[in-house]
Amino acid sequence: MKAIFIIISFSLFLLPTQVLSNDFDKGKKVYRKCKACHTIALGAKHRVGPNLYKVINRKAGKAEGYKYSKAMKNSEVVWNEKNLSQYLINPRKFIKGTKMAFAGLKKDSDIINVIFYIDEMSKKN
Ligand code: HEC
Repeated sequence: MKAIFIIISFSLFLLPTQVLSNDFDKGKKVYRKCKACHTIALGAKHRVGPNLYKVINRKAGKAEGYKYSKAMKNSEVVWNEKNLSQYLINPRKFIKGTKMAFAGLKKDSDIINVIFYIDEMSKKN
């Protein structure tokens, strides 16, 4: 069942982006789930988790001054859309040993929108 879910999830990412509506406001709503642990503004303080400004397409574990788990630091993952989606579906499955205590997002639309939101917020300064 799980495998099927993941295949369905990823097939959605192969559709042309204009078919999926990247919705900033919806992404902002989803981001409320991340807010307890993450900031997004340029130069904002790390919380339980690192600041996420410009995290997209950056290597994992690179936010200045944040103490990552070994698993994250050594992961060699780049946060492109595909990897970040997989991480957000199930963080501890994608990076075994991550200290991000988050169950994961279930809906493809939530994942797409929150990534869009993070990317847009990373263009501000
Ligand atoms: C309960 C706290 C918590 C919540 C909620 C949470 N995170 Fe995290 N997040 C963390 C921690 C802690 C880390 C560092 C993980 C590590 O070092 O293993 C992290 C790491 C990350 C990273 C990797 C950052 C980097 O610099 O490599 C991304 C991306 C991320 N989180 C995105 C999100 C998003 C998007 C959400 C909401 C959908 C979210 N997180 C919800 C705690 C949280």
